[in-house]
Amino acid sequence: MNLTPPMTEAYLADRYYAPYPGEVDAERLEQRRREQSGLLDKPSARVFQTPLEQVKPRDGDSFDFSGDTIRLGEAGILSAEDQSALEASLKSLIPWRKGPFSYYGTEIDSEWRSNLKWDRVEPWLPDLKNKKICDVGCNNEYYMYRMLPADPWFVLGIDPMVRYYFHHQLNKKFHRDHRINFDLLGVDDLDLFPRFFDVVFFMGIIYHRRNPVQTLNVINSCMKPGGTIILEASGIPGDEPYCLFPEGRYMKAPGYWFLPTASALKNMLSRSGFHKIEVFENFKLEHEEQRQTPWAIYESLEHFLDPDNPDKTVEGYPAPVRIYIRAEKR
Ligand SMILES: C[S@@+](CC[C@H](N)C(=O)[O-])C[C@H]1O[C@@H](n2cnc3c(N)ncnc32)[C@H](O)[C@@H]1O
Repeated sequence: MNLTPPMTEAYLADRYYAPYPGEVDAERLEQRRREQSGLLDKPSARVFQTPLEQVKPRDGDSFDFSGDTIRLGEAGILSAEDQSALEASLKSLIPWRKGPFSYYGTEIDSEWRSNLKWDRVEPWLPDLKNKKICDVGCNNEYYMYRMLPADPWFVLGIDPMVRYYFHHQLNKKFHRDHRINFDLLGVDDLDLFPRFFDVVFFMGIIYHRRNPVQTLNVINSCMKPGGTIILEASGIPGDEPYCLFPEGRYMKAPGYWFLPTASALKNMLSRSGFHKIEVFENFKLEHEEQRQTPWAIYESLEHFLDPDNPDKTVEGYPAPVRIYIRAEKR
């Protein structure tokens, strides 16, 4: 009797790396994927899986990835039953951190207005046509869809959080595209793809790493020489190459480790095998970009800053700036 649960089976059957024999470390990747597939067996995954199972796959509906909102399907074309199954699945995925999205007319105003980040990044991108791209910590695939109009060859989003596997599965119910791939991997797994990617997006993560330089080294190892990294990070204001290392929480969260100035981040990159390092944005984040919404009902930026002094976090540290950098692998 086959006791492998169907979700695990479907995950392992998606051998998106099969067209690249010899380019990826397939044996180790498969071993790693078998380990990660166990996450899908956990009771916590049922919260996403049960509503998703009620959503019927569809073909041939319209989509639009060219604007601020990722649009799948049109309002008014689903039966009442199908619309309500879709909405139950969308609600099971609250909080929606990245967006906006529109699913068959249901508009999802996410915590982050990710279109603003994309607007800053897009002018600094190399030509993505026919490129192999990795979006590290891809979350709900918002940026991966924004890449599609540029006609990449292969986009792999990696994120070790199970909920984002279900975002991927939901998107696939309506839009199946061999270029969009997702794996339940973390950034440390990227050595499984030696010199594989032309472009790596590494946005919103480095300050959550305990060892940011080691992380940059792993990313460097998965890139082709001359490949481009787009690095975006929370940091602190200042001209000197320093990092803030909070005593405990920063913006109420325990997962912040090194918050660099732009110049410290440049130094980290240059000492991890990158050159042609250009800082193209460095600014204080505003509430219009990150805020509470009906689809992201938990605390957001406004709750993390000192109400009497928005230049400080609630802990009294400097409020974050967002730093955007483009660099090339040497
Ligand atoms: C702050 S969000 C940034 C999302 C997106 N990249 C952006 O810039 O808007 C951090 C993302 O990293 C993911 N993540 C957590 N641990 C990770 C790891 N070890 N490797 C890769 N991604 C990770 C989280 O699940 C989350 O989706």
